[in-house]
Amino acid sequence: MSQTAPIPHGLPMERDAGPFDPPRQITRLREARPVSPMVFPDGHEGWLVTGYDAVRQLMADTRFSSRQDLGLLHVPFEVPGMSEITEPSPQVPGLFISMDPPDHTRLRRKLTGAFTVRRMKQLEEGIIGIAERQLDELARLTPPVDLVKEFALPVPSLVICELLGVPYADRENFQVNTAKFMVKDQPVDEKMAAYGAMTTYLAELVTSKRAAPGEDILSDLARDEDLSIEELIGMAFLLLLAGHETTANMLGLGTFALLEHPEQLAELRANPELLPGAVEELMRYLSVVDVLYRYAAEDIELGGETIREGSTVVVSMLAANRDPRRFDNPDTLDIHREARGHLSFGHGIHQCLGQQLARIEMRAGFDGLLRRFPTLKLAIPADEVKLRTDMNIYGVHELPVTWTETA
Ligand code: HEM
Repeated sequence: MSQTAPIPHGLPMERDAGPFDPPRQITRLREARPVSPMVFPDGHEGWLVTGYDAVRQLMADTRFSSRQDLGLLHVPFEVPGMSEITEPSPQVPGLFISMDPPDHTRLRRKLTGAFTVRRMKQLEEGIIGIAERQLDELARLTPPVDLVKEFALPVPSLVICELLGVPYADRENFQVNTAKFMVKDQPVDEKMAAYGAMTTYLAELVTSKRAAPGEDILSDLARDEDLSIEELIGMAFLLLLAGHETTANMLGLGTFALLEHPEQLAELRANPELLPGAVEELMRYLSVVDVLYRYAAEDIELGGETIREGSTVVVSMLAANRDPRRFDNPDTLDIHREARGHLSFGHGIHQCLGQQLARIEMRAGFDGLLRRFPTLKLAIPADEVKLRTDMNIYGVHELPVTWTETA
């Protein structure tokens, strides 16, 4: 294996190969050395993992810890001034995405019943109704409109609010504050302030649910005396954030990608039964959660390299999903391919809890949008669409679209 020097400036982010493709340097690295040393902006060394097999193996190995400095709050090496993590940091109660077993197991288990495939199937009709009502609203507007603001963000927000029992009227609060966690170089104190605002809001909400539980997921959690108020807050925060940011970006970026592939878009319109496969392929192709972070809890061999205990590890889901060793013509969007096996919902014990929900939302969203807006098109040149290269979840900031008639 050719030995390249550590990357000097951290993770390449610029989408220099196009809005949907991995940065060229990441593609080159995956070919040269799928497990590569890299230097973070603060000067400390760690690893960047880009090959499909290595990423899958890593995600299945719990010696790669998910404990990060304050979990979702700090992505340590991307925030200016943050220093190297040398040991697992204190856990934020309830934020089980950033925990290891047995804490992770205990909390995740509290939610698995609420997110089973069967349970999600029962919700499908309601979710389709939410998407259709949002499309009714969209149809009343005079184009051009921003599809993110009017459709991609509201649909998953409405769904997760209803499921959790969070008043949608409070969306300003959580959409604005959760968005602040997504900004890569947001100063730490601003992230902390946003987290403070969210926890104040959620503390009141879960306390009232504990006192008078209703029929929603947060109420069910609040009934469980084994969970502290702090844990309820952390879990509510995680579900609210994970439940709308991700799917919203898939709907926004996914629509952009389909508009840029008009033949496949036409085929999908003509044959809606292709939609479930197309959603899987869009998940693979777009990989909106493009990177994840882990921490080596001991010395670990991976892809012929030794990752020393204490190293921070950046996992490129996007590069893995575009690995030609796993997918033929990986950089081509092909709604007919068998895309299952992609890693866009993660892999291993942290694999996305909401994946069935997300699939139902995406199918309902794309199905309704394509059916009811047959002349949908971009209202600005494709190269002017603002990409979320500055955010922890990839997508488009805005998607100005227009149409000539609606059904
Ligand atoms: C975990 C992606 C939608 C809730 C994850 C992970 C990924 C992911 C990659 C693994 C993180 C890791 O290993 O560190 C996505 C994508 C979505 C989506 C791309 C939309 C297209 C949702 C929805 C919910 C949700 C709708 C609703 C509740 C969660 C939770 C976890 C998680 C709670 C943490 C699981 C754990 O740590 O055990 N998601 N997700 N996600 N996701 Fe999703």
